Amino acid sequence: MDNKKVLENESHSLANASRINYFDLVIEAGKGATLTDVNGKKYIDLLASASATNTGHSHPHVFEAITKQAQKIIQYTPAYFANVPAAQLASRLTKLAPIDGPVKLAWGNSGSDANDALIKFARGYTGRTNVVSFTGAYHGSTYGSMSASGVSLNMSRKMGPLLDGFYKVPFPSPWYRRDYETKDQFIDRMFDEFKLPFENYLPADEVAVILVEPIQGDGGIVKAPTKYLEKVYQFAHDHGILFAVDEVNQGMGRTGKWWSIQNFPGLKPDLMSVGKSLASGLPLSAVIGKQKIIDSLAAPANVYTTAGNPVTTAASLATLDVIEDGHLLQRSHDLGIKAQKFFEEMQQQYDFVGDVRMYGLDGGIDIINPTTKKADTQIATKLIYRMFELGVVMITVRGNILRFQPPLVITETELQKAFEVIKKAMQDEADGKIAFNAKIGWSAD
Ligand SMILES: Cc1ncc(COP(=O)(O)O)c(C=O)c1O
Repeated sequence: MDNKKVLENESHSLANASRINYFDLVIEAGKGATLTDVNGKKYIDLLASASATNTGHSHPHVFEAITKQAQKIIQYTPAYFANVPAAQLASRLTKLAPIDGPVKLAWGNSGSDANDALIKFARGYTGRTNVVSFTGAYHGSTYGSMSASGVSLNMSRKMGPLLDGFYKVPFPSPWYRRDYETKDQFIDRMFDEFKLPFENYLPADEVAVILVEPIQGDGGIVKAPTKYLEKVYQFAHDHGILFAVDEVNQGMGRTGKWWSIQNFPGLKPDLMSVGKSLASGLPLSAVIGKQKIIDSLAAPANVYTTAGNPVTTAASLATLDVIEDGHLLQRSHDLGIKAQKFFEEMQQQYDFVGDVRMYGLDGGIDIINPTTKKADTQIATKLIYRMFELGVVMITVRGNILRFQPPLVITETELQKAFEVIKKAMQDEADGKIAFNAKIGWSAD
């Protein structure tokens, strides 16, 4: 088999809308943080299936849980009858959630439908219809979650109208900070911009929920300044608006904590969505929230035939074991410090490396034009292409930001090897040795 042949064959049948095109890569196998393509070439994976395999590819404990469960029964719909792994997981996950008081959850199959569910429960509980979310947010690909998203024109182009009652406020990404502004002045200005809709056309008492990725993923692996999010949180509380966090990308240990909101001490969400790595990449998601909010809707307001499926929930129980027993939160934190040090060294050496943000094994590295200091998609694209040729899988977000999200089980040797490849790619770029100039990825919009 051959990567190019498989892709050529598939291209006659697969929708363009279904793949963000990066490299000619067809995955055959994966173990830990190493991938093998259909030609037998190996790669170090710095994407972890878009942060959906934090425990690494085919972890033996997860694999065993899946096969054991599949031997008993693969599927019986939780919409009608309970199963033991799902019941156990519900109890374990609600205890893990950083939400005060009694907590309940509802299952889904994807991060997208978990966010749809979050919107349903927020509307159901508050009796209010409006939803406020942020530019740069990626909440998913269903109509509800797309309506809350704001990161790509292709996610609304030709498909409108999206859901009614959705308002976007600017996410305080560092690249919006003006040269003359101190950090505090920037936060104040961004919070003023946050308040503008509420002061002009959006009555706060008609808003059900503010939905935020406390650390945006596809928006650039970028953390909201703590003081800013505290102000938003306070605003929500002052106006009876629910505060909800999307942990689909940044949860499950990615940032060195179970949940990214735990990087903001004292902020406790009313609702949260979880998916991706929840079942090591098998299709399982959940909306988790205060009991009184989740109890506001009655069946069948949020049932799916396969959500809370016995195999996916067994995989999720095993995933939680692996994260706990393998001390993966600590590992993410510790290796994240090494990664930060490495990318800061690259920043010193190469003038096209801009801001470096690292929160555990979770990094966004801006690639900039050395003269204008503005985002440079072309250089970023050349870099990831060269890395790919040299055996490292890394993609960009927003066109110019390197997305660094390896499986949390990546070994120190693999990490070191990946650093060497990244450095080599950067040196090749500095030497003008990379000829590639096609448009790929999110930048190709
Ligand atoms: C923050 C966030 N929320 C929701 C989603 C949607 O998840 P899914 O693709 O599983 O529907 C994603 C996917 O990238 C995400 O990054």
